[in-house]
Amino acid sequence: MKKKRDLLDIRDLNKIEIYQIFEQAKFFKYQRKKQIMISDTLKGMCIGLLFRKPSSRTRISFEVAIIELGGNPIFLESGQLQISRGETIQDTARVLNSYLNGLVIRTYQQSEVETFAKYVDFPVVNALTDFLHPCQILADFFTIWEKKKDLEDVVITYIGDANNICNTLILGADILGIRINVSCPTEFSVSKNITNAMKNPSLLKVSNDPTAFIPESDVIYTDTWVSMGNEQEKQKRLEIFKPYQVNEKLVEKAPGDFIFMHCLPAHRGEEVTDGIIDGKNSVVWQQAENRLHVQKAILHFLYSS
Ligand code: CP
Ligand code: NVA
Repeated sequence: MKKKRDLLDIRDLNKIEIYQIFEQAKFFKYQRKKQIMISDTLKGMCIGLLFRKPSSRTRISFEVAIIELGGNPIFLESGQLQISRGETIQDTARVLNSYLNGLVIRTYQQSEVETFAKYVDFPVVNALTDFLHPCQILADFFTIWEKKKDLEDVVITYIGDANNICNTLILGADILGIRINVSCPTEFSVSKNITNAMKNPSLLKVSNDPTAFIPESDVIYTDTWVSMGNEQEKQKRLEIFKPYQVNEKLVEKAPGDFIFMHCLPAHRGEEVTDGIIDGKNSVVWQQAENRLHVQKAILHFLYSS
């Protein structure tokens, strides 16, 4: 029997497989523009979506992706599951294993998605943890690939909180051989777990100066300063991150054709101004649309490899 594939971490994929997913996503995107939406990759299958945190993009794009691949999405509201009353993840996973053909999970700890994956025979997909967001970052690199063609010449600068988005961008850039800079306050800097995991650490530069890398940036990326789960630190974070706002002044010295990216949801007036997110360099809506095409390609990859 073939070993099942999960996507728990972007490092579950190698560079060749990431480009296979991009080619497949490009094909699905083209097909959808031609109104050809249905494939039979997931025909007759039921895929659970277990979300322990809110979501607009990831949940809805996965539901549509599963339907367009011929499968049936089943949304599992975590507050209505016995997990919320103390049933263990192991026991829940063993039971779901006999009903479902796949599981997409958004939760807090990375170890929760790993435990689910260990106790089921079908593919498990990480739809965001406190540590990583691989589906988002695959769609982001796909968007950069569409805009800039050759990924290996691109320089990405991430500005703000070194969170799950930043972690996954760094690990993805390491796999793909892309230079990545991070400007962040010392107190919320890139974790040693990430820097130590890099195969090519010279690709990463880190500074606490928000302007340090602007002139060399083909991509300027930011995310919220208060991720889901950080709400109790909100006031402190809003104060510390203020100098890291991506605004018109900060990007003054950026190349004219830089692209602005944000995984969304954006907190306008905090990490980014309206002028930047709605401005000519912003690709955030294309980035969000690509979640759908790339997630279809991820599912296609997991169920046909
Ligand atoms: N970017 C992203 O994952 O958005 P949602 O939280 O809306 O899913
Ligand atoms: N860093 C954010 C990403 C949301 C898509 C969070 O974890 O809340």
